[in-house]
Amino acid sequence: VQVLAHPEARKPVRLPPVPERAPREALGGLFEALRLRASLREYAEEPLRLEELGLLAWAACGENGREERGFRYRTVPSAGALYPLELYAACRAVEGVAPGVYRYSPEGHSLEPRRTGDVSRELARAALGQGMLARAAAVFAISAVESRTTRRYGERGRRYVLMEVGAASENLHLAATALGLGSCAVGAFDDESVNAILGLDGRAERALLLQTVGRPAGSEGAR
Ligand SMILES: Cc1cc2nc3c(=O)[nH]c(=O)nc-3n(C[C@H](O)[C@H](O)[C@H](O)COP(=O)(O)O)c2cc1C
Repeated sequence: VQVLAHPEARKPVRLPPVPERAPREALGGLFEALRLRASLREYAEEPLRLEELGLLAWAACGENGREERGFRYRTVPSAGALYPLELYAACRAVEGVAPGVYRYSPEGHSLEPRRTGDVSRELARAALGQGMLARAAAVFAISAVESRTTRRYGERGRRYVLMEVGAASENLHLAATALGLGSCAVGAFDDESVNAILGLDGRAERALLLQTVGRPAGSEGAR
């Protein structure tokens, strides 16, 4: 893994715009996704497409276009619309994206490169040896800058932040299901190792949940 030295490597990856209506590949409506959602731990080798990664990131914490009283609202609710969460994607197999760690920018609907190189095996080790992190096409990490929320709500803000992680995670799960992909939340990991892989200091900002995504094993060539 290399920290980004070359200016070319720092260019954001623009994600395809989110369609106004359900994307072409979506399987069905919300209630179908709720019924079908299940944690997926076995992944096909086939890469994710950039549109799919973009839709997943957008579902987790993208801007939905609503703008009122100076707030730009998102797909997930947030106490006081303070948005303490950050989303990272560790990409291993995503078409058009060099393997590496990216920060999702809700404002730009783009991926900002943080580190180059495939970190999937490091993440699997950090997640106490859970091999699915190395087999998934990408692993999302949801982190929080708690002070954005505790500044206003004090100690109570800490619980709000955790609730918001749950909402973002479920949005990701449902979006993955609707796209015929699969996902698994991963809470069992060594905090220090995961923060180091993502380049977070673990104090001002720390990782709270990992979430794998990929095509289900056995679905090869289905598209
Ligand atoms: C906060 C949280 C942490 C989890 N951590 C892990 C994990 O580290 N490894 C894993 O294989 N599954 C993990 N899971 C997935 C659960 O095992 C799974 O949701 C549960 O068995 C119910 O199955 P379902 O998601 O298929 O409905 C986690 C789920 C949540 C909500």
